[in-house]
Amino acid sequence: MERTFVMIKPDGVQRNLVGEIISRLEKKGLKIVGLKMLKISLDLAEQHYQEHKEKPFFPKLVEFITSGPVVAMVVEGIKTVSTVREMMGATNPLEAAPGTIRATYGMYMERNVIHGSDSLASARREINLFFKPEEMLN
Ligand code: RTP
Ligand code: MG
Repeated sequence: MERTFVMIKPDGVQRNLVGEIISRLEKKGLKIVGLKMLKISLDLAEQHYQEHKEKPFFPKLVEFITSGPVVAMVVEGIKTVSTVREMMGATNPLEAAPGTIRATYGMYMERNVIHGSDSLASARREINLFFKPEEMLN
Protein backbone atom coordinates (compact mmCIF):
# COMPACT_ATOMS: atom_id res chain seq x y z
CA MET A 1 0.00 0.00 0.00
CA GLU A 2 1.17 3.49 -0.85
CA ARG A 3 0.03 6.93 0.32
CA THR A 4 0.06 10.16 -1.63
CA PHE A 5 -0.91 13.78 -1.01
CA VAL A 6 -3.77 15.25 -3.03
CA MET A 7 -5.07 18.79 -2.90
CA ILE A 8 -8.12 20.36 -4.51
CA LYS A 9 -6.82 23.82 -5.33
CA PRO A 10 -8.71 27.10 -4.67
CA ASP A 11 -10.27 27.07 -8.16
CA GLY A 12 -11.68 23.58 -7.60
CA VAL A 13 -13.14 24.52 -4.22
CA GLN A 14 -14.56 27.80 -5.52
CA ARG A 15 -16.19 26.00 -8.46
CA ASN A 16 -17.81 23.38 -6.18
CA LEU A 17 -15.81 20.46 -7.59
CA VAL A 18 -14.86 18.98 -4.21
CA GLY A 19 -17.52 16.26 -4.29
CA GLU A 20 -16.85 15.35 -7.93
CA ILE A 21 -13.12 14.98 -7.41
CA ILE A 22 -13.34 13.03 -4.14
CA SER A 23 -15.96 10.82 -5.76
CA ARG A 24 -13.62 9.98 -8.65
CA LEU A 25 -10.85 9.01 -6.26
CA GLU A 26 -13.22 6.87 -4.18
CA LYS A 27 -14.80 5.21 -7.21
CA LYS A 28 -11.34 4.28 -8.48
CA GLY A 29 -10.89 2.32 -5.25
CA LEU A 30 -8.55 4.66 -3.46
CA LYS A 31 -9.11 5.23 0.25
CA ILE A 32 -9.20 8.66 1.87
CA VAL A 33 -7.16 8.34 5.08
CA GLY A 34 -6.81 12.07 5.85
CA LEU A 35 -9.00 15.02 4.86
CA LYS A 36 -9.23 18.70 5.76
CA MET A 37 -10.12 22.10 4.39
CA LEU A 38 -7.74 24.95 5.10
CA LYS A 39 -6.48 28.27 3.84
CA ILE A 40 -2.77 27.82 3.12
CA SER A 41 -0.41 30.32 4.75
CA LEU A 42 2.32 32.05 2.75
CA ASP A 43 4.93 30.04 4.63
CA LEU A 44 3.25 26.68 3.94
CA ALA A 45 2.76 27.60 0.26
CA GLU A 46 6.44 28.44 -0.16
CA GLN A 47 7.45 25.19 1.52
CA HIS A 48 5.01 23.11 -0.50
CA TYR A 49 6.21 24.54 -3.82
CA GLN A 50 9.87 24.96 -2.78
CA GLU A 51 11.09 23.10 -5.92
CA HIS A 52 9.70 25.97 -8.03
CA LYS A 53 11.21 28.81 -5.96
CA GLU A 54 13.43 30.06 -8.78
CA LYS A 55 10.79 29.74 -11.53
CA PRO A 56 9.25 32.89 -13.03
CA PHE A 57 5.75 31.64 -12.24
CA PHE A 58 6.51 31.08 -8.51
CA PRO A 59 5.05 34.38 -7.14
CA LYS A 60 1.78 33.88 -9.05
CA LEU A 61 1.64 30.22 -8.00
CA VAL A 62 1.98 31.12 -4.32
CA GLU A 63 -0.52 33.96 -4.68
CA PHE A 64 -3.04 31.61 -6.26
CA ILE A 65 -2.63 28.68 -3.86
CA THR A 66 -3.13 31.03 -0.87
CA SER A 67 -6.07 32.88 -2.47
CA GLY A 68 -8.83 30.73 -0.99
CA PRO A 69 -9.52 27.48 0.85
CA VAL A 70 -8.15 24.19 -0.43
CA VAL A 71 -9.09 20.62 0.42
CA ALA A 72 -6.04 18.57 1.45
CA MET A 73 -6.13 14.78 1.45
CA VAL A 74 -4.02 11.75 2.12
CA VAL A 75 -5.02 8.96 -0.24
CA GLU A 76 -4.07 5.32 0.05
CA GLY A 77 -4.08 2.42 -2.39
CA ILE A 78 -1.92 0.41 -4.75
CA LYS A 79 0.66 2.48 -6.70
CA THR A 80 -1.26 5.53 -5.54
CA VAL A 81 1.29 8.19 -6.53
CA SER A 82 1.24 7.21 -10.21
CA THR A 83 -2.45 6.28 -10.20
CA VAL A 84 -3.46 9.73 -8.96
CA ARG A 85 -1.08 11.47 -11.40
CA GLU A 86 -2.71 9.49 -14.26
CA MET A 87 -6.19 10.35 -13.06
CA MET A 88 -5.18 14.05 -12.86
CA GLY A 89 -3.73 14.29 -16.37
CA ALA A 90 -1.04 16.65 -17.68
CA THR A 91 -0.24 19.87 -15.81
CA ASN A 92 -1.79 21.97 -18.58
CA PRO A 93 -5.50 21.09 -18.84
CA LEU A 94 -5.39 22.05 -22.52
CA GLU A 95 -2.98 19.16 -23.08
CA ALA A 96 -4.40 16.68 -20.57
CA ALA A 97 -5.79 13.40 -21.93
CA PRO A 98 -9.58 13.33 -22.38
CA GLY A 99 -11.38 12.03 -19.32
CA THR A 100 -8.70 13.05 -16.85
CA ILE A 101 -9.64 15.37 -13.98
CA ARG A 102 -7.68 18.30 -15.39
CA ALA A 103 -9.04 17.82 -18.93
CA THR A 104 -12.60 17.54 -17.64
CA TYR A 105 -12.65 20.31 -15.06
CA GLY A 106 -9.48 22.39 -15.55
CA MET A 107 -9.24 25.54 -17.61
CA TYR A 108 -5.57 26.43 -18.18
CA MET A 109 -2.08 25.96 -16.71
CA GLU A 110 -2.52 28.21 -13.68
CA ARG A 111 -6.04 26.97 -12.90
CA ASN A 112 -5.70 23.20 -13.05
CA VAL A 113 -7.94 22.29 -10.12
CA ILE A 114 -5.89 19.56 -8.44
CA HIS A 115 -2.44 18.77 -7.08
CA GLY A 116 -0.97 15.31 -6.58
CA SER A 117 2.53 14.41 -5.36
CA ASP A 118 4.92 13.57 -8.21
CA SER A 119 6.95 10.85 -6.42
CA LEU A 120 6.96 8.76 -3.27
CA ALA A 121 9.54 11.10 -1.73
CA SER A 122 7.38 14.16 -2.53
CA ALA A 123 4.34 12.34 -1.13
CA ARG A 124 6.08 11.72 2.21
CA ARG A 125 7.32 15.30 2.38
CA GLU A 126 3.96 16.84 1.49
CA ILE A 127 1.91 14.57 3.79
CA ASN A 128 4.20 15.60 6.67
CA LEU A 129 3.83 19.27 5.76
CA PHE A 130 0.04 19.19 5.84
CA PHE A 131 -0.90 16.43 8.31
CA LYS A 132 0.08 15.42 11.80
CA PRO A 133 0.11 11.65 12.37
CA GLU A 134 -3.00 11.87 14.60
CA GLU A 135 -4.94 13.58 11.80
CA MET A 136 -4.71 10.48 9.58
CA LEU A 137 -6.01 6.94 9.86
CA ASN A 138 -3.38 4.39 10.84
P1 RTP B 1 1.16 20.34 -9.11
O1 RTP B 1 2.51 20.33 -8.46
O2 RTP B 1 0.36 21.59 -8.81
O3 RTP B 1 0.40 19.08 -8.84
O4 RTP B 1 1.32 20.35 -10.70
P2 RTP B 1 2.34 19.50 -11.56
O5 RTP B 1 3.20 18.62 -10.68
O6 RTP B 1 1.57 18.86 -12.63
O7 RTP B 1 3.21 20.65 -12.18
P3 RTP B 1 4.48 21.41 -11.58
O8 RTP B 1 5.51 21.41 -12.62
O9 RTP B 1 4.82 20.87 -10.22
O10 RTP B 1 3.95 22.89 -11.43
C1 RTP B 1 3.25 23.33 -10.29
C2 RTP B 1 2.12 24.24 -10.70
O11 RTP B 1 2.67 25.46 -11.18
C3 RTP B 1 1.84 25.97 -12.24
N1 RTP B 1 2.68 26.20 -13.38
N2 RTP B 1 2.61 27.29 -14.07
N3 RTP B 1 3.06 29.32 -16.02
C4 RTP B 1 3.76 28.20 -16.07
O12 RTP B 1 4.59 27.99 -16.93
C5 RTP B 1 3.51 27.18 -15.06
N4 RTP B 1 4.13 26.01 -14.96
C6 RTP B 1 3.60 25.40 -13.90
C7 RTP B 1 0.78 24.95 -12.54
O13 RTP B 1 -0.44 25.40 -11.98
C8 RTP B 1 1.27 23.69 -11.83
O14 RTP B 1 0.18 22.91 -11.36
MG1 MG C 1 4.22 19.32 -8.99
